[in-house]
Amino acid sequence: MKALVLAGGSGTRLRPITHTSAKQLVPVANKPVLFYGLEAIADAGITDVGIIVGETAAEIEAAVGDGAGLGIEVTYIRQEAPLGLAHAVLVARDFLGDEPFVMYLGDNLIIGGISGLVEEFRRSRPDALILLTKVSNPSAFGVAELGPGGQIVRLVEKPQQPLSDLALVGVYLFGSVVHDAVRAIKPSARGELEITEAIQWLVDGDYEVAPHMVEGYWKDTGRLDDMLETNRHLLESLEPDVRGVIDEDSTVVGRVVVEEGASLVRSTVRGPAIIGRDTKIVDSYVGPFTSIYYSCTIENTEIEYSIVLERATIRGIGRIEDSLIGRDVEVVSSGARPRAHRLMLGDHSRVSVAPTS
Ligand code: TTP
Repeated sequence: MKALVLAGGSGTRLRPITHTSAKQLVPVANKPVLFYGLEAIADAGITDVGIIVGETAAEIEAAVGDGAGLGIEVTYIRQEAPLGLAHAVLVARDFLGDEPFVMYLGDNLIIGGISGLVEEFRRSRPDALILLTKVSNPSAFGVAELGPGGQIVRLVEKPQQPLSDLALVGVYLFGSVVHDAVRAIKPSARGELEITEAIQWLVDGDYEVAPHMVEGYWKDTGRLDDMLETNRHLLESLEPDVRGVIDEDSTVVGRVVVEEGASLVRSTVRGPAIIGRDTKIVDSYVGPFTSIYYSCTIENTEIEYSIVLERATIRGIGRIEDSLIGRDVEVVSSGARPRAHRLMLGDHSRVSVAPTS
């Protein structure tokens, strides 16, 4: 069995982060989201892994390398444009051959892994095994309608009037007939070859498409809120571990990781939170559900329920919440007059400034 991991795409919902970097490499609980998927694949005993890459190919390749560090062997497959999930299967044809495979969306995270699913697929060998979960906003997802016997009747991509609340989760298992399906379908109204349509083609052709309900935690991290929520969830089970330096005027409470080379000076960290390697926290408060990545500087600031990427500097900013701060970003307060917000923001940036009085 092989794995196909999708790490291309355009990531429009996570701009401006995705203008300059791959969303699959945004760290949650200080580990790139893609690595959770690759680890789950390795844990399921699959070592032959194809990774679909697009514009951010170089960055993904630099982060994952040949996969040896994760116990897998990676083949990179270039998708010339993000033309859809089924298009990714089409371009991976040579790599996949006729072997069954698990397809994993590189920005999705399933807690509890995929070993059970892979086992179930190996045992019953349907033409496709799809994962479903109940969601409160089905029109944002691919949705499955089940028949009276629990069989799949219809799949619809982002329906305006959803007929069920069962969303497709970003992990699919396929036998080789899926290659006929992805060749048979036509691009959708949004110009993509949709995996839902390929699966519908299998259903219509009376191939066996088995549903499997996800019991554990699953999240698509494609939007800011979901990224922060996934970070919260992972931090909930953080094992406390302090390797950095905490001065005597600092306090660490609850589940907190302070990585090697990090320092806390006159600061309070209230977990669950993680402070990355070589990061400096000075005269600040880091509140629950915050992940600060490596080599950052946080000074005279309160920050909570946020993710801060590498080498960011935040200085003299009252309080920050619900935020994703990109690499090398500077957010600082200056005493310069006239008193004003001075901004240099990338395209599609979002800033919400609290009123001053
Ligand atoms: P999506 O999040 O559905 O698509 P996207 O990355 O284009 O994001 P947005 O909707 O915000 O513009 O993609 C799911 C995963 O699959 C993600 O890891 C990107 C990857 N992907 C590909 O590799 N190739 C593709 O053609 C598409 C559409 C997605």
